[in-house]
Amino acid sequence: MAKLYINEKNKKGHINAEIYGHFSEHLGRCIYEGLYVGEDSDIPNVNGMRKDVVDALKEMKIPVLRWPGGCFADEYHWMDGIGPKENRKKMINTHWGGVVEDNSFGTHEFFELCEQLGCKTYVNGNVGSGTVQEMSEWVEYITFNGVSPMADLRKKNGHEKPWKIDYFGVGNENWGCGGNMTPEYYGNLYRRYQTYVRHYDHTAPIKKICGGPNVADYFWTEGVLKTCFAPPQPDEGQGTKGLMDGLSLHYYVHPEGWKIKGSATDFDDKVWYKTMAKAAYMEELIDRHGAIMDQYDPDKKIGMVVDEWGCWFTVEPGTNPGFLYQQNTMRDALVAGLTLNIFNKHCDRVKMACIAQMVNVLQSVILTEGPKMILTPTYHVFHMYKHHQDAELVDSYIEGNKTIGVEEEYQVPLLSESVSVDAEGYVNVTLSNLSVTEEVPVDIAFADLQPSQVTAAILKQEMHAHNTFEEPENVKEEQFTDYEINDGRICFKAPACSVISFRIK
Ligand code: AHR
Repeated sequence: MAKLYINEKNKKGHINAEIYGHFSEHLGRCIYEGLYVGEDSDIPNVNGMRKDVVDALKEMKIPVLRWPGGCFADEYHWMDGIGPKENRKKMINTHWGGVVEDNSFGTHEFFELCEQLGCKTYVNGNVGSGTVQEMSEWVEYITFNGVSPMADLRKKNGHEKPWKIDYFGVGNENWGCGGNMTPEYYGNLYRRYQTYVRHYDHTAPIKKICGGPNVADYFWTEGVLKTCFAPPQPDEGQGTKGLMDGLSLHYYVHPEGWKIKGSATDFDDKVWYKTMAKAAYMEELIDRHGAIMDQYDPDKKIGMVVDEWGCWFTVEPGTNPGFLYQQNTMRDALVAGLTLNIFNKHCDRVKMACIAQMVNVLQSVILTEGPKMILTPTYHVFHMYKHHQDAELVDSYIEGNKTIGVEEEYQVPLLSESVSVDAEGYVNVTLSNLSVTEEVPVDIAFADLQPSQVTAAILKQEMHAHNTFEEPENVKEEQFTDYEINDGRICFKAPACSVISFRIK
């Protein structure tokens, strides 16, 4: 028996909606086919954007979308993706499958997509192979509301009004695919490039994201912060005061290591627990990178932006290895549940996170095949967690939570939880049972609250369960009614391999 104690009166911090963000790169079938099919497609679309996918993402309440990469960002030249489509340059996407990129999805299309989704925009600039001028002009093109060469070009291309960039990434993985730089070299480039990411609209300053570490590269975090840390300050139009609003972190779960990775659907209990333990490692990464950030930024003025995370398995048999297309099982759902609980509990430092990637690539929430679309188990977790967005984290603690796993190295807590109180006064509880076999009786006890309104949802299935185009609803969120309220406590059994969400008043 486990007891989940909740002190709903003890608010511990704001859960930024952006923690539930997504990432879309020009990679495989993410943008093309997955999101954008073009206006002439037989697949129902609005201005070229798939209607089924947009509707599903809105229902999931997508808060922010990062684009155009990833590694692609540091090879992307935005001017190739504007103007009449027939004149747009074609290029080879050297990173991802060596296919032809026809640039039919560019800046205008990205902002159209975000408008349809109703989400914030996170544009990632090119430091690795781009110039300061190119980056600076992109920002001018998108955001300047006046007379200027770039604003005039935007108008000529059919968009009179500027758009809003909420977040701007100055390069991507510049320790690797973004230029193989040292932290000091990148830190100095960051100082320079970000200077020209101008806030043309002073009422809506762009939040600048500095390229942070890969996994446990604490040397990078220290080196970059030492070189270019300066917290945000009220902008005076010069772009010189305060150099950053966030530092990124990338971490993927490869259960069998980076080289082998392992199948997305064919795994045993041992690999399940390895996967969970590797996902739980996110907490150590946040703590340790966070400790370095604390030395420079004790008031936590800049955010940790985990703008690439998720499971990275071997591609589905018969698919292009450069397209990173993988299935998504209950294992992915539990990784998502666990990771989102970790982010919620570290909302003092983690201000944004983007799961990689949104459609048809890595740990996607949506998979498509021609006109067909399926929602993955990970989608359902994001949907079940959506009430945490912009809510206040509150105190929670599980008594009697044991450790499970394999070998000494791969141990995880049996249950993972996080709890928030939202603007409507509801207490939102999300709880995952990471065991493959063990059902756990749970009692939820509150400090004061006497629950009178309770709604709950559950995602449960055996560990390999997933959705296919033939069986699209094999795994789906269901109403959960199997609980009792005794003496103000909510009592239920959390099935093995399940994610449960409660909304309580
Ligand atoms: O998400 C796939 C790739 O992983 C991204 O392009 C890159 O940033 C990371 O290495």
